[in-house]
Amino acid sequence: MPATFPKDFLWGSATASYQIEGAVDEDGRGPSIWDVFSHTPGKVARGETGDVACDHYHRWREDVALLADLGVGAYRLSIAWPRVQPTGAGAFNQAGLDFYDHLVDALLAAGIAPVVTLYHWDLPQALQEKGGWVERDTAHRFAAYAERMATTLGDRVRLWTTFNEPWCVAYLGHASGEHAPGAHNPAAALTSVHHLNLAHGLGVQAIKAARSGAQTSIVWNLQALKPATDDAEDLEACAKLSRVGNEIFTDPVLGGSYPAALFEDTARFTTWDCIREDDLATIHQPIDAVGINYYTTATVAAAPGVLYDSQTAHPSPWIADDVRFIDPPGPRTDMGWLIDPSGLTTLLTDFHQRWPGIPLMVTENGAACADTIAADGGVHDPARIDYLDAHIGAVHAAIEDGAPVCGYFAWSLMDNFEWAHGYGKRFGLTYVDYPTQRRIPKDSFAWYQGVIARNGLA
Ligand code: FCB
Repeated sequence: MPATFPKDFLWGSATASYQIEGAVDEDGRGPSIWDVFSHTPGKVARGETGDVACDHYHRWREDVALLADLGVGAYRLSIAWPRVQPTGAGAFNQAGLDFYDHLVDALLAAGIAPVVTLYHWDLPQALQEKGGWVERDTAHRFAAYAERMATTLGDRVRLWTTFNEPWCVAYLGHASGEHAPGAHNPAAALTSVHHLNLAHGLGVQAIKAARSGAQTSIVWNLQALKPATDDAEDLEACAKLSRVGNEIFTDPVLGGSYPAALFEDTARFTTWDCIREDDLATIHQPIDAVGINYYTTATVAAAPGVLYDSQTAHPSPWIADDVRFIDPPGPRTDMGWLIDPSGLTTLLTDFHQRWPGIPLMVTENGAACADTIAADGGVHDPARIDYLDAHIGAVHAAIEDGAPVCGYFAWSLMDNFEWAHGYGKRFGLTYVDYPTQRRIPKDSFAWYQGVIARNGLA
C-alpha cells in the first residue's frame, strides 16, 4: 500500500551551523565552546574540528541549489550565535547577520521555507567563561540574541526554534562530558536544564515581542524508553529515566511544572535552588509546534544499588540511581544505534496523547552509514534508504493513529562534523568529499526526491 501524506505536509532536511559552516574566524565570528572543545586534545575523534567542516560559509549557494534539487519545502538550519554576536552580549556583527540574511533570501527565492534554530550547541565562548548554562544570566543573553534575530530575519522566517536537544546540552555537556563544555558535574547539568528551559521561555517571549506573528517551537530528542520487563521495578526505572530525560523538559514548557517525583529522583545531586519564583510561568509560554528528533530506542531495567558516578572514566549522561540500560539484539547503524522504526510511531502517538493539540514535526531522523564513492562515481547507500523508508512509514502510521505530524526533516542534507565523532560518521543524503569539498548526491538523495515528489512512499 502506498503511504500518502496529508496535503501540505512539509518535507525538509536539516543541518546545524557548527557542523557545516567552517570559517570559524572569518568576518568577525567569535569563538564558540565547540571551537575550544574540538581543539582540546582527546575530545573529538582523530582531533578533528569544525574549522572547515563543509565550508558551507563559502559554498552556501551551491548548498541551496542542492536543496532546491532535492525538492524540499523547508530547510532546518541553525544560526551560529558567535557569528552574529561574537561574545554573546553587546554588539552584533553585521557581516554575520548578512550571511544569514543572504541565505534566507536565497532559500525563499528557491521556494524553500527556512526553519531557524537559534541554538544548536555553539555557545559563544565568552559566555562559557562566565559560567555558560550553569549561570542564569546566559538565559537573558539568549533572549536578547533571539530578539535581535527575530527583528532581523522575522519578516521572512516564520517558524523559529529556540533550542535543539537541550538534553544533549545539559547532560552530554555537563554530566558525561562527551560534548562541549565537557563537564562532569551532575548538579551543573541539572542547573543547566533549568536555565535552558528558562532561556526557551524568555526566548519565545522575545521573539513574539519582536514579531507578533512569529511562530515558535522547541526541538527535543525525546528518549524512546522501553522497560526490560513488565515488572514494577523495571517500569519504575523506565519512568524515572523518562522524568530526567523527557518530562524534565516537556512538563515545564508545555504544562508549567516539573514532575513532582523528579525532585526526589535528583535529591542526591541538587536542591534545585536555581528555580526562582515565576520561572515556571516564564518557561510555560504558548508555542506553535514541537519538534522531535528520533534515531533509536533504549531498553531500561531496575538496578538497585547502581549509583550514578560522574567520576568514572565514562560517566553516563543519565543522572539517575538504581537503573541500567540493556542492549537488545538487532540491526544497528554505523553509530551503533539500534534500528527500531516502531519506536517513532509510539513516541509520536504517546506524545500526542499526553499533549493533545500541539502540532508535531519530526525535525531530525536519519542513519549513519560507512559510505564510500563507488567505482562508478556514485555513492550507493541502500541501508540508509531502508532506514528512511521504514521511519517515514512509521511517521505515516502515527498520522493514521491521529498524531498531528505536519513535517519531516531528514538528517542531514550532507555529511558533516558529527560532534565528538568528527567526520567519521556520515549521515548525509549528499556525500561530502572533504579533501575537495565536492558534494555527491547519494542514492538516498534521489530516493528522497521521489518521496517528496509523490508526497509519500511508493
Ligand atoms: C542529533 C543532533 C544533530 C546530529 C544528529 C546525528 O543529536 O541534533 O546535530 O548530530 O544527532
